[in-house]
Amino acid sequence: MKFFIDTADVGEIRKALDLGLCDGVTTNPSLVAKTGRPFEDVLKEIVALVQGPVSAEVTSVAFDGMMREAHHYAKFGPNVVIKVPLILEGLKAVKALTTEGIRTNVTLCFSPSQALLAAKAGATYVSPFVGRLDDVSEDGMALIAQILEIYRNYEFGTQVLVASVRNPLHVVQAARMGADVATIPFAVLTQLAQHPLTDLGLAKFLADWEKVPKGKGSTPA
Ligand code: E4P
Repeated sequence: MKFFIDTADVGEIRKALDLGLCDGVTTNPSLVAKTGRPFEDVLKEIVALVQGPVSAEVTSVAFDGMMREAHHYAKFGPNVVIKVPLILEGLKAVKALTTEGIRTNVTLCFSPSQALLAAKAGATYVSPFVGRLDDVSEDGMALIAQILEIYRNYEFGTQVLVASVRNPLHVVQAARMGADVATIPFAVLTQLAQHPLTDLGLAKFLADWEKVPKGKGSTPA
């Protein structure tokens, strides 16, 4: 399972890379707005920093505009993936970009029928938003199960990229279902490592270690 980091904050990306837990990055206009920086500056910096796929989202809603933006961002590096909204014009752009060999991430997916269309268009990734579905009392992870079932039935090559992840349970459930990728906010990435019994156990081990007589040539601290 691949871990992408869902952020446009270069500091967070550096930290995730340093931990060895960043296989790629997803950005969106809201995440870029939080940085207060121009999008192209942010994108160039991330693309240079990360070896894995970096999703850059188009903001046009018509085919021609999407294609123009896609061709522009694709020049920033071979790891750029063009993020396209799941609307009919977007699917048309995905088909064209796929034919040109440009990778795509179809975003704002909220239903199995939409995911089926993304696969038919040849998308590299589809991004179902699990957290936003949970927010409106729908079961986000149930959508992931349905998409995986459909894709497996027909051996579609589109990878399921679980997005709008809000907590560690989303990541664990995605892993149990066999989703290809989860794009994870940095805060949730750190939560994945946490357990109170680990903290208690470590504190006890360290306290007991202080009681152990230290002979000559003992292990360095
Ligand atoms: C990622 O590609 C999505 O843009 C992101 O996961 C959305 O997350 P949110 O619902 O927390 O904004």
